[in-house]
Amino acid sequence: MKSFQWMRPWILSLFLSVAMAGACAQAQSGKGEFEPQVGQEGKDVIWVPTPQLLVDKMLDIAKVTPKDYVIDLGSGDGRTVITAAKRGSKALGIEYNPDMVELSKRNAAKEGVSDKASFVKADLFESDFSQAQVITMFLLPDINIRLRPKILDLNPGTRIVSNSFTMGEWSADDTVNVKDGCVSYCTAYLWIVPAKVEGTWQLPAGDLTLKQSFQMISGALKSRGNSTPIANGKLKGDQITFNSGGVLYTGRVSGNVMEGSLSTGGSWKATRAGK
Ligand SMILES: C[S@@+](CC[C@H](N)C(=O)[O-])C[C@H]1O[C@@H](n2cnc3c(N)ncnc32)[C@H](O)[C@@H]1O
Repeated sequence: MKSFQWMRPWILSLFLSVAMAGACAQAQSGKGEFEPQVGQEGKDVIWVPTPQLLVDKMLDIAKVTPKDYVIDLGSGDGRTVITAAKRGSKALGIEYNPDMVELSKRNAAKEGVSDKASFVKADLFESDFSQAQVITMFLLPDINIRLRPKILDLNPGTRIVSNSFTMGEWSADDTVNVKDGCVSYCTAYLWIVPAKVEGTWQLPAGDLTLKQSFQMISGALKSRGNSTPIANGKLKGDQITFNSGGVLYTGRVSGNVMEGSLSTGGSWKATRAGK
């Protein structure tokens, strides 16, 4: 029952009824074509489709554009990939169940997006998704946590959207609930992969020492023997902001350099001194 642990009892009984009705319909239709059943076993997670309203909302909060390459981890019947493709994005579904992969390809063809939507039969834990600008998923909390180190190594700015399940102590950058027309699994979480800034940085005025916990940063700016703590330090992808001594620093991190502007006017630049 491990894979059912995330379902509330009433949802479990609902999907079992739907599954049985589906099985009867398939038997009656007598067609040989594969028909997915809600709740069917998957390698690490059963298949439950994301409500289309939430698929739309997930792509909205990730601000998906035709410039983005979208990858859905555990793509089910392909609906998220197909929806992204309809928005003009190139999109890939990674799905372990070969029948679901073939079904997704048929669904993409029916929707006229086979040129943009592709699907591979693969294990998401063994797949490279580093080229994506947007990752979508509807997995399980413990799977999100297992994926988290790999996700944090993605390019800063990569957007991650998850249906219903969080990333442990990595708090979401945005959360949206669909209230109208959505019955279950109606919450989408967004994270933006932060640049890695922990360590010491040199500015003309002194040394900036940063501690990082996901997108949150703390630390101090040491100048001429004085240490001024930084406040409200935050990363949004490669965009950094913090306050020090009443001055707001905003800037962009690019490898071992970060630079930007000061609320008092003028600019700032820091180079990495070490970890
Ligand atoms: C809860 S469903 C979500 C489907 C789809 N992403 C959606 O939101 O509608 C999870 C999907 O992940 C697939 N899956 C489970 N373990 C997997 C693995 N290790 N690699 C790839 N796909 C997997 C299942 O077959 C299932 O289709």
